[in-house]
Amino acid sequence: MLRLVRHRLRLPRHRGTTAHVCSAYPFQAEAGLGARGVYLGTNVLTGGGGFAYDPFEAYGAGVVTNPNILLAGEPGMGKSAAAKCFIYRSVGVFGRWAAIADPKGEYLPLADALGLTVIKLHPGGTARLNPLDRGPGEGAGVSEEAARRQAAMLTALLGSVLRRDLGPVEDAALGWAVTHLGRQQRDVVTLDDVARLLASPTAEMAERARATPAELARSVEAVTYALGKLLERSLRGMFDGPTTVRLNPTGPGIVLDLSAVHHDPEALTLVMIATTAWLQTVLSAPTGPKRLQVLDEAWSLLGSERTTRYLQACWKLCRSYGVANVAIVHRLSDLRSQADDGTATAKVAMGLLADTQTRVLFRQAPDQVADARQLLGLTATEGRLLWKLSKGRSLWKVAGRTAVVQHVVARGDEQVICDTDSRMVA
Ligand SMILES: Nc1ncnc2c1ncn2[C@@H]1O[C@H](COP(=O)(O)OP(=O)(O)OP(=O)(O)O)[C@@H](O)[C@H]1O
Ligand SMILES: [Mg+2]
Repeated sequence: MLRLVRHRLRLPRHRGTTAHVCSAYPFQAEAGLGARGVYLGTNVLTGGGGFAYDPFEAYGAGVVTNPNILLAGEPGMGKSAAAKCFIYRSVGVFGRWAAIADPKGEYLPLADALGLTVIKLHPGGTARLNPLDRGPGEGAGVSEEAARRQAAMLTALLGSVLRRDLGPVEDAALGWAVTHLGRQQRDVVTLDDVARLLASPTAEMAERARATPAELARSVEAVTYALGKLLERSLRGMFDGPTTVRLNPTGPGIVLDLSAVHHDPEALTLVMIATTAWLQTVLSAPTGPKRLQVLDEAWSLLGSERTTRYLQACWKLCRSYGVANVAIVHRLSDLRSQADDGTATAKVAMGLLADTQTRVLFRQAPDQVADARQLLGLTATEGRLLWKLSKGRSLWKVAGRTAVVQHVVARGDEQVICDTDSRMVA
């Protein structure tokens, strides 16, 4: 009679570090990104080990060549919650300073918990920021770098209102106006001053344009009207005079509550441009802790090639200030800004992505996966994973390294800080 004997291979249980296991199972186990940084959750690819990250630590260790972070994903998948926990823990553990542009007004519990200064901006309100403020390190007058920064902001702002790139004379006149006002050694220069100067240019500006002052004023009148319209409508009371808010110099940061304009995407774009311009002056402080600039709903700055270029320029400047930028968007296709002829262009987006080596991808709709794969160079498996991710779980791509992270929101304080569902489920 034939007896069937089952031989099982029995091996003793072995435990090893992810560094060793990933060499034994090279295509199945990731080494992880190390423990430097704040704890964010568990890394599914390392068998549920802890996942920690800090952009400055990653930069210092040579893992990335820039500290900027992009979070992308469908609504409600946990992008803001991940950003809030990251800020909460980074301020607490590393003493980072955070500046948050908050178009939905949902960072107020975080502000409460951390003691961040909240500035609520609304048309006709009392809190006003001057996007032409000088940085804390700058004396009277405007440095060359600040003049360039101001001219870039004005170009993005007015180009957005006019929905076209500025003509060469308009562009130059804005630059001359900024330089002229900077030379006057005035304590405060405002958008009103620029509008007045464009309406009646100086003899020097006219000479540079090889025209009379009246002729120059006529050739830039579209820009002058656009600026006037901005000051009377979209930016009224928020950015049209000297700054009225005081910052706590030793505080942990600020939240700019922009919820009053969230319902109007066009106004939100203009407000985001002016807000980031003002933030640049704050972030340019030569001393102090390492800083985080967080732009939630950053799609509002990615709607056109002009604004995307402006955002990229701000990020480049931030690098010299020791700032890590965190941008939150919905679809990866948000990054394909629209050219004036309506065609989508990825050129600027690719530049912005090159400046953003930490990409945190939450669930994307299946029709977004091809775009995501192409823009971010994801593998087919990563692409398939993208539309299967559940709430709070994301694919991290950090300069070629990969992690799948289940973000952890701690009970108590963090649950309150992250909750954006209570009104939906109440
Ligand atoms: N990791 C998580 N654990 C538990 N709850 C979570 C987690 N991530 C998010 N949530 C909850 O899910 C809800 C939606 O999250 P969140 O507001 O972060 O989404 P979002 O991706 O920013 O959405 P939107 O694009 O609409 O802003 C919140 O109430 C939040 O508390
Ligand atoms: Mg959100």
